[in-house]
Amino acid sequence: MISMTRLFTRLSSVEKKTFTEKSRRVQVASILARFLVVVISLSCAHAQQAARITVYGDQSGPRVNREIFSQFAEQLGSGIYGGLWVGPSSSIPNIHGYRKDVIDALRDLHVPAVRWPGGCYADQYHWRDGIGPREKRPVRYRRGGNDTNSVGTHEFMDFLDLIGAKAYLSADVGNATPQETVDWMEYMLAPRGTTLSNERAANGHPDPWQVPYLGIGNELWGCGGHMSAEHAADVINQYTTFLHASRGKPFMKIAAGADRGDYHWTETVMREAGPQIDGLALHFYTYLHHAGHEGVGTGYGEKGAAVGFDEKDWASTLAYTFGMDDLIAKHAAIMDKYDPEKRVWLAVDEWGAWYKPDGVHAASSLYQENTIRDALIAAINLNIFVKHADRVKLTAIAQMINVLQAMLLTDGPRMVKTPTYWVYEMYRPWQDATSLPIEVHSEDYAFGGEKMPEVSASAVRDKSGKIHIALTNQNPNLSVKLLLKINSSVPGSVTGRILTAPNIDSRNTFEHPDAVKPVVMQGITQTGDTLSLTLPPKSVSVLSL
Ligand code: AHR
Repeated sequence: MISMTRLFTRLSSVEKKTFTEKSRRVQVASILARFLVVVISLSCAHAQQAARITVYGDQSGPRVNREIFSQFAEQLGSGIYGGLWVGPSSSIPNIHGYRKDVIDALRDLHVPAVRWPGGCYADQYHWRDGIGPREKRPVRYRRGGNDTNSVGTHEFMDFLDLIGAKAYLSADVGNATPQETVDWMEYMLAPRGTTLSNERAANGHPDPWQVPYLGIGNELWGCGGHMSAEHAADVINQYTTFLHASRGKPFMKIAAGADRGDYHWTETVMREAGPQIDGLALHFYTYLHHAGHEGVGTGYGEKGAAVGFDEKDWASTLAYTFGMDDLIAKHAAIMDKYDPEKRVWLAVDEWGAWYKPDGVHAASSLYQENTIRDALIAAINLNIFVKHADRVKLTAIAQMINVLQAMLLTDGPRMVKTPTYWVYEMYRPWQDATSLPIEVHSEDYAFGGEKMPEVSASAVRDKSGKIHIALTNQNPNLSVKLLLKINSSVPGSVTGRILTAPNIDSRNTFEHPDAVKPVVMQGITQTGDTLSLTLPPKSVSVLSL
């Protein structure tokens, strides 16, 4: 057992920066509570065999593209209006209309790219509605509400500048013409001198922007037009043909991809349009995985509750999310047939947990709470993306604020960082690092007919040569003892952080915003090239060597 005083001393030195006079006592209580969670968790390590992990520190896998850590911000619910944008005249502190608390939090995450304006919204969005003086912009009825178009192209690009992210725009394909997107790209990318680029300058941005990624449609099999794969491939070809005519810096064209296990879609688009595109999307949301739903490819199960669920739902949801591995492997195998050089990116540009409405917020807003279970979902998926980093080059979790598996939740002037936010914060060293081969031997965690590996992991070497290892423990009740061998190198100093919580649905609330937050890991011992440590139940940990 670790000494309480020692751990508390460590915690207070790490976190004293965040103390304010007013909140000091609350913070101390919260740190003590989190400390106790870790101590209690570590003390119930079970009698199973220790898990064993080998990280091949002397080898190099594919680079982990930083775009894997991108996010999706759709004009939906309070994802943009209220969550991100409050307008320059709001009493909520803001920078050019964007909430300052949100900008600060997102800046800390080093968000690589943001996908906007949709989602299904992309196929209702006409970019000309969102330029020019805000008070003159049209108000449109969209997705059950009025859209003021206050956040348009200029505002969105300003937001990206504020957080240091790149643009991943999605073009309206289902409900527009190729010319509309060609014009949008000319408006954004062409040097001054054309009518459209001069209009951009007149609207306040003389220099062209950069748009590295453009989505050609969204869910063309569904809200993007209910197209067959064959028809969609033709439409994608039509768009890519005319988008070549756009002026300015070239951008990657990412075609609308399959829903979960629709391998026919991937096959058809790769066969018919593969040479014309630079990326192909895939959408996969995590639901419950109850009996009757054979695998993730054949139909979503029902949606579970975001909080107040039992262990059966815990296991079912995590088992379902593990299906991402098999899905990617199968889509990637099809892509390999047509693109063995792996030029075309697999872009999982919508993923995350999707729960049933909470009965408080409008069902259409897709607002949901975010618990320690979501932290596990995030980490398990990020580990899967790292495993497939040779083909998966971009992903966008759905979504950034107040929608589905969000990083941040807001309520009027209040904001809270979710457990998912903390996972993204802990994984920052993965961005553009080199993946390392890793072998994981752990027992299974099984409950209610569901089974999955107890531990999931990924490892990378960053540019400075440091090795970082992420580890999850899916078991909500038992700790896992772990022996971690770093092949061909003896670790020097080792630091670690743990994200865990007392209950399976623990979360950060507006009243207790720091209930679930990473703490320093204690008790790591080293013998030669092997580290020995304990992963608390329901936890995500990151070690840095
Ligand atoms: O993320 C919410 C919605 O889910 C998106 O608008 C759509 O693309 C998907 O079906």
